[in-house]
Amino acid sequence: MPETTTTSFPSMDVSTREQWDHIARESIDDWANVPDRMLGMLRALSGITNGFAVDQLTHVCQTAARAERAGADPEVVAAALCHDIAKAVSEPNHPAVAAALLKPYVRPEVAWMVEVHQDFQGRHYYAFMGKDPEARRQYADHPAYELAERFADEWDQTSFDPDYDTPPLEHFEPLVREIFSSPRRA
Ligand SMILES: [Fe+2]
Repeated sequence: MPETTTTSFPSMDVSTREQWDHIARESIDDWANVPDRMLGMLRALSGITNGFAVDQLTHVCQTAARAERAGADPEVVAAALCHDIAKAVSEPNHPAVAAALLKPYVRPEVAWMVEVHQDFQGRHYYAFMGKDPEARRQYADHPAYELAERFADEWDQTSFDPDYDTPPLEHFEPLVREIFSSPRRA
């Protein structure tokens, strides 16, 4: 097998330790770009309204503002801001996708809060769709149940109000840069 000496390889089965060391360094350098990518996905939510009274960027900024004004800690506020971020790509399965994006950056119960948020929201609309409005009960024993309940009932389901004093995304930019600058739980 010919020795591969370039910094990149045509296929992994001819790769070297040196090349993987190089890739690891480059990949870690790239972590610095994550906050801008998250902000870009959040900005894309401004183009999605889907029949609600406010667009999805306004919705997530309003949700995060309510959490922040209620004294939630920075990881919870960042999660509130990003709980619907996956809608920038696709609505189906968006809670799980958003939670997976958050997982390396927030404590496990905060990522879980996002992962299950739709079933908690369900109390306020699942009945219209023939689904169980109390779907949240399946999580009754989870240690973060009260956090998920507060998120859904006080901050998320209330945040479709065009008259609320919703801060712009820029208000949360320093927080996004702080939380997503490096994965602490990868
Ligand atoms: Fe939401």
